[in-house]
Amino acid sequence: MRIAVIGSGYVGLVAGACFADIGHEVILVDNDQQKITGLNQGQVPIHEKFLPELLARHRGQRLHFSGDLHTAVEASDAVFIAVGTPSTERGDADLSYVESVARGISGAIGRYKVVVEKSTVPVYTSEWIRKIMLRNAAAPDSFDVASNPEFMREGTAVSDFFYTDRIVIGSDTARCTAVLREIYAPLTDGSYYLRPDAIPRPDRAQIPPPMVVTSTKSAELLKHACNAFLARKISFINAVASVCESVGADVQQVVEGVGTDSRIGPRFLNPGIGYGGSCFPKDLRAFRAVAREHGYEFRLLDEVMHINEDQRYRFVQKVRKALWTLRGKRLAVLGLAFKGGTDDIRESPALAVTQALVAEGCAISAYDPAAMDRAREVLTSSVEFASDPYEAARDADALLILTEWEEFAALDLNRLRGLLKYPIVVDGRNLYDPAAMAVAGFTYYSIGRTAVTEEGQQLQSAAARKFKNA
Ligand code: UDX
Ligand code: UDX
Repeated sequence: MRIAVIGSGYVGLVAGACFADIGHEVILVDNDQQKITGLNQGQVPIHEKFLPELLARHRGQRLHFSGDLHTAVEASDAVFIAVGTPSTERGDADLSYVESVARGISGAIGRYKVVVEKSTVPVYTSEWIRKIMLRNAAAPDSFDVASNPEFMREGTAVSDFFYTDRIVIGSDTARCTAVLREIYAPLTDGSYYLRPDAIPRPDRAQIPPPMVVTSTKSAELLKHACNAFLARKISFINAVASVCESVGADVQQVVEGVGTDSRIGPRFLNPGIGYGGSCFPKDLRAFRAVAREHGYEFRLLDEVMHINEDQRYRFVQKVRKALWTLRGKRLAVLGLAFKGGTDDIRESPALAVTQALVAEGCAISAYDPAAMDRAREVLTSSVEFASDPYEAARDADALLILTEWEEFAALDLNRLRGLLKYPIVVDGRNLYDPAAMAVAGFTYYSIGRTAVTEEGQQLQSAAARKFKNA
């Protein structure tokens, strides 16, 4: 099939490359001419596993990049809209980019086409897209508007595309459903997975993925519900972690017991400094706003957002508890991206914590494997950037772990202890075992677990000496 994807950001670029990989002819469109030029020259604008391989495989063959919306739409059977849907000041989604794309494609429809919402949008957006296109003289029976939400996590977006739990098609006509079924046929009939060059299958993946066909409105709504539910899971466990801290329980043990209940499941139960990124925060606000607009006060979402904000504040308090005063302290920060595996810093809790510590008068030496270029654009001169975790740690009063990059869970602890001014680690992602950190000689604070403090260490070694002497 011929597919146009409008918007070549984190979602559009990955989806476009994956559509090409399952055999379609794809034109990726963006109104950022610099981005298009870079893509045509072979640049890969974002850090995403397997994306460079897919772009190299299909660029100039089945995958083209263009700034010309009209021509791309004219040439296509399906047009996926993947432009940004940021929050307005009121918290609802700013759909002006979607509207402008809808206007832009109206005049280029010609023969029957399916217009598909790929960006996360509030329920009723498909109706508005249709209305705008009709207003701009698209013929009523020349197009349908469908919703095909993405479930791609940044960092594993390519794998998530091919090895998704399900493909959701929201469509209101049989004709439109048939087009979308055909697009995804290489996945749903299993043929893609037989290819020797298929993207490797992750451990848990079920193939072929099932297809869930719903009305367009249901698909729009289920995407918001899905992100809100996942965010709720994270805030829930963060709230439980706070109770654990008060009573001396261990949240990781609680997670093990809770997550093995198959009705709950172990995923998205990692406590930390809260969720961030371009989706959860924005989508929760938008879901809250659309529910209110239609007469339902979704107060549960307020609390999910409140717990999430609080988690950052609690972390800064933890740093204060470890160091007493903050002004003039030098802190090593590991992780600036909103999560591991990406260079994306949008609504990053790691960045927010770093900024809060700068405001408290701390000097920061930061390291992130992928997000430093983007972070440099928003952080002040109080932040230095290091070339690895050890350089960041040199002479710091404490080391803070803010993002769950795999390499931060495998640090050489002896080397680290030798570099830090004091062996203090405040871990916002629970990457280490407190007992192991105690043995390695660290004062160690984490989320929802008893801290390993100097006093505790001294008491323990005194008890050990007493035992030995007796
Ligand atoms: C976007 C949405 O924000 C998100 O809600 C959704 O789930 C997926 O799409 P993302 O891909 O991360 O997320 O956004 P971004 O990386 O900002 O990419 C959007 C792209 O669209 C940019 O490259 C921008 O230049 C382009 N764009 C924007 C257009 O081509 N035309 C426009 O009118 C506006
Ligand atoms: C999300 C959705 O998961 C994906 O399906 C969607 O379509 C795009 O938005 P993404 O924002 O890329 O993906 O990352 P995700 O893995 O969901 O993590 C979001 C945030 O939650 C990150 O800040 C992460 O650190 C945090 N998180 C995640 C936790 O704090 N604990 C967890 O257990 C899981």
